[in-house]
Amino acid sequence: MAKAKSNFSCQECGGTSTKWQGKCPNCGAWNTLVEGVAEVTSTGTHRFTSLVSASELAVLGEIEAKDTDRTPTSQDELDRVLGGGLVEGGVVLIGGDPGIGKSTLLLQALDSLAARQFKTLYVTGEESGAQVSLRARRLGIAHSLVKVLAETQLEKILHVLQTERPQVAVIDSIQTVYSEALTSAPGSVAQVRECAAHLTRAAKAMGITVILVGHVTKEGALAGPRVLEHMVDTVLYFEGDTHSSFRLIRAIKNRFGAVNEIGVFAMTEKGLKGVSNPSAIFLSQHSEPVPGSCVMVALEGSRPLLVEIQALVDTAGPSPRRLSVGLDRDRLAMLLAVLHRHAGVSSGDQDVFVNAVGGVKIGEPAADLAVMLSIMSSLRGKSLPKGFVTFGEVGLAGEVRPAPRGQERLKEAVKLGFTVAVVPKANAPKKPIPGIIIHAVDRVDQAIDIVRGLA
Ligand code: TYD
Ligand code: MG
Repeated sequence: MAKAKSNFSCQECGGTSTKWQGKCPNCGAWNTLVEGVAEVTSTGTHRFTSLVSASELAVLGEIEAKDTDRTPTSQDELDRVLGGGLVEGGVVLIGGDPGIGKSTLLLQALDSLAARQFKTLYVTGEESGAQVSLRARRLGIAHSLVKVLAETQLEKILHVLQTERPQVAVIDSIQTVYSEALTSAPGSVAQVRECAAHLTRAAKAMGITVILVGHVTKEGALAGPRVLEHMVDTVLYFEGDTHSSFRLIRAIKNRFGAVNEIGVFAMTEKGLKGVSNPSAIFLSQHSEPVPGSCVMVALEGSRPLLVEIQALVDTAGPSPRRLSVGLDRDRLAMLLAVLHRHAGVSSGDQDVFVNAVGGVKIGEPAADLAVMLSIMSSLRGKSLPKGFVTFGEVGLAGEVRPAPRGQERLKEAVKLGFTVAVVPKANAPKKPIPGIIIHAVDRVDQAIDIVRGLA
């Protein structure tokens, strides 16, 4: 029988201590000790020894590669981010703000698996069985075959996994699970890490697909799911504005598929529904163009998305603000500097706000041109022409750099009825595309001159 004893280790130097102290006794760093369990088996061997099977050395070229079998969840958009479906023994972490739809989506996915005779288990630590049943009724799956366990103690959950042997288990959420072996509170870094490690090991040993739900809290970068990212096979994050009905799921890490693929859902009265053709959902509906708005073609995973970037430039007080929602703030500051230096447009005494419509987060630098042109448009109080679209990265020297897969972006824009585009020179197609006039630029000032000429 394994004895478990808690101890504390320093995150800086790895030194240990038997009690919690503010200062690491080894390296002297402050607030770096985190609780963990030192487990010693009855024979005195370390607990990890049992995990090491006698593997043989092999030459890489001689190891047979196996294609992973995938089980589709029937939620097409979820399967897309997973890389085709769930993998036996795979551990998936789904993070996101509270209320964004994690429990809803997973309950829907488990239900469709259960309906196809898969053994499923939903472990709920946040809601009672009755609350889960209420949600199921709302989702129209009141007679679902999913097994529900309202439990938060790790040891009991592991016991149920052992006896029930489900094929897919959801732990909602990892922050509510605690282990008896640790003294720290549920949700602390130590508990979250230790419980996730045990569940991951159980998943691999028993061939169960385990889906861990994790909340991202404002201050919780530490205690939240971030500390688990390296442990699990797949990390998915929910994005989107809880006020709008659209939700995105993005794969941040996937040992079984492509990353940066996104799944798009709409929250309806009956739960989350996949949106298979999402390219136009991030456009706000102006009947006529308005100043400060510029549409860009973003590329998310394998799909082009048209996203409206909005800017508001207004007279500032003593310390001008630069704020961005859904776009990188440092990049905004950089673009303002480039605008000043290379296009002579000064905004030093102005507040500048930029926003990507619909709660979408745009991480790619291909948004640069759209951000600049929307700022210009707001500054001049003049709207961009109707049907205008752009993409392209801007460098510190004022050069416009190509964006990956420009042709696909342009095709999507034409499909949605856009008629004028400003794109990086290297992305300009060799033959004209019917229906759209394409202006190729290689400098920021050139892009601005073209837009001035168009408006
Ligand atoms: P939930 O799945 O509980 O979020 P999470 O588990 O990420 O905290 O989703 C909660 C929100 O979704 C809640 O505000 C209500 C809404 N909702 C719907 O709009 N339709 C539905 O069918 C359901 C079940 C929830
Ligand atoms: Mg929930």
